[in-house]
Amino acid sequence: MFGERSGKPSPSEWLLAQNKYKGKKTLQKATTISITAGKGGVGKTSVAVKWAKLLADQGYKVLLVDCDYNLSNTVVKLGLPVTNDFYDLISAQKEFTDCVFKMGSFHLLAGCNGNIEIFKKGLELDRIIIDILVTHEREYDYILLDCPAGISKETLTLNAYSDYRFVVVTPDKSSVTDSYSLIKILNKEFGVNDHHLLLNKISNDVQYQRMVKTLTETVEHFLSCSLHVLGGLRKEEGPVDSFDRILLEEENSALHKNFIKIVSKFTEEIESSSSFNESDRAYFQSTRSNEFRSTLA
Ligand SMILES: Nc1ncnc2c1ncn2[C@@H]1O[C@H](COP(=O)(O)OP(=O)(O)OP(=O)(O)O)[C@@H](O)[C@H]1O
Ligand SMILES: [Mg+2]
Repeated sequence: MFGERSGKPSPSEWLLAQNKYKGKKTLQKATTISITAGKGGVGKTSVAVKWAKLLADQGYKVLLVDCDYNLSNTVVKLGLPVTNDFYDLISAQKEFTDCVFKMGSFHLLAGCNGNIEIFKKGLELDRIIIDILVTHEREYDYILLDCPAGISKETLTLNAYSDYRFVVVTPDKSSVTDSYSLIKILNKEFGVNDHHLLLNKISNDVQYQRMVKTLTETVEHFLSCSLHVLGGLRKEEGPVDSFDRILLEEENSALHKNFIKIVSKFTEEIESSSSFNESDRAYFQSTRSNEFRSTLA
């Protein structure tokens, strides 16, 4: 277990004492989802932004929190201005509502970008974000946390606090290894045994099937954790900077349509059932395989 820094229990210890991650979901509170990975550059922010926007399009009230608090990429992807609002919020210079970008029912709490004061302060990000969540989780249907790369204690605590964790993995071997390390530490240190897997930058169906099999079997066998497969996103070829445009602006693209299927299926499933049983999961995984195959066709 991670140690205490002061007399107060750390957020992870407090979480475990409350058994918070297991019992938080109620009808009145937002469903909180961490988009996480361990590995950098796998598509966490792309997935978080797109997922949040699609949920808002479906009529849900959504808050996306950029937890990469001093390297905020959400604003960049959405073409919004860079601000210091996150610093102003945590230093009590501004109210939450004045620090959130509002685009209909999609709200974004962005981070800062190279803010020196935040850098010098050395934030306890988990404590700050959990405070924000506890204060505002009744105002939203969904809260999505775009997590930074790495397995800092702060990120792990936010992952553990969330109702769901979407682990984004690419075929890169180091992405697979890092996601396994993340899942392992969440299990051993926080008792979390349940995750969702989103495969990104996939080239073909064989690769997708192989990754699903390897990851689900390894995680189940060695960690006794469940990995629910959300689906796969094809690696878009072409200029590096074209992906975000296709993702966020091209509503006729296969990528957009595939995303809608994945998001809709997930929301339907969590609304009809708060937990998966074994037969649900087997069905879920085989459906995902078929859907992914059809997007590659
Ligand atoms: N399916 C895909 N096909 C092609 N390019 C992609 C795909 N998914 C993401 N990318 C590109 O990969 C890069 C990294 O994406 P993104 O910033 O979303 O990753 P991240 O995991 O949030 O990174 P970081 O760890 O730095 O926060 C971006 O250039 C993005 O456009
Ligand atoms: Mg990111």
